[in-house]
Amino acid sequence: MKYLFELSGEHPDLPKAELFCVLSSEGVSYKIAYEWDKVLVLDTDSTRTDYVDRLGMSLKAGNNPILSKSPWEIASKLAPLIPKDRSMAVRSRSHTLEQDVGAEFYLMGYVIDLEEPDIKVIAYRTWEGILAAINLPLKRDYSKRRPQFRPYFHPTSMHPKLARVLVNLANVKKGSNILDPFCGTGGILIEAGLMGMHLKGSDIDSRMVAGCQKNLESYGLYAELEKANALEIPALYEKVDAIVTDPPYARCSFVSEGRSDLGGFYEKFLESAEKVLKKGGRLVMMIPKQYHVEYKGYNLLQEHYIKVHKSLTRRIVVLEKK
Ligand SMILES: C[S@@+](CC[C@H](N)C(=O)[O-])C[C@H]1O[C@@H](n2cnc3c(N)ncnc32)[C@H](O)[C@@H]1O
Repeated sequence: MKYLFELSGEHPDLPKAELFCVLSSEGVSYKIAYEWDKVLVLDTDSTRTDYVDRLGMSLKAGNNPILSKSPWEIASKLAPLIPKDRSMAVRSRSHTLEQDVGAEFYLMGYVIDLEEPDIKVIAYRTWEGILAAINLPLKRDYSKRRPQFRPYFHPTSMHPKLARVLVNLANVKKGSNILDPFCGTGGILIEAGLMGMHLKGSDIDSRMVAGCQKNLESYGLYAELEKANALEIPALYEKVDAIVTDPPYARCSFVSEGRSDLGGFYEKFLESAEKVLKKGGRLVMMIPKQYHVEYKGYNLLQEHYIKVHKSLTRRIVVLEKK
């Protein structure tokens, strides 16, 4: 079954890496059938679409993608998937494309509702012609989940979209055990919990642990939370499927060991984390770009860079325990 994904342009490689990790963690095999700019058509071995709501950096998804030079052919091939008693509309960045394809549906007798259609067709103009698919609505609500709306806030709280992407890079799914040993206000745990994962978290600061608890409760989520030093986690946890975390990095976050050797701090953490992570399990973390860190005991799978401001570029590192 073929599906279309429109990836966000906010980062050059993260949206695609996230999509592929979600597919592989959900056990969906795929190959790229067509790629144009930020739009991908994947040929998958599954008819499942429940995983699309997990995606943080995909803007749109669609099923039954059709590529054709003719608006009439697009409408004729998609029409059998749109019941005649449902209203519809074509959505595209190109107004003329919306009109051209929409006109064909209108001539076929569809009720066109530009405000609140029952079904949307998403359309793109590519080098080869028109690419269109039936829209799969993505149920996500990041703006409502912004950290400032939570009962406990701290300036280091992670934005839900980024937190979700980090969790997705960990190759985990509903039911997996996730640990965040620098949990802070719970940004990462909240997203993992909303995706149905079992949550464990700790922080060296008891105010953060209490705040994280409150925040999780406000979303109806539960985590095993402890006040603990992330450089000594083995005493506390059984083996987990993945560790997803955002260790301290900048002036506004507290570093238990001081800031003079942050590279060494991250290495000590990796050593401690290795003892609680399952073999083959992933560790996804964000660290500043400038620190040299040895990933002893892990295979480096991916690195992505995010420029925050002139003097801070953050590195997302995806490791796999050997
Ligand atoms: C960048 S913040 C994490 C923010 C978190 N992702 C959120 O959404 O709120 C880093 C956290 O690491 C904690 N921390 C610093 N040193 C620690 C250590 N040795 N062990 C555990 N936590 C530590 C700080 O208290 C802080 O809450």
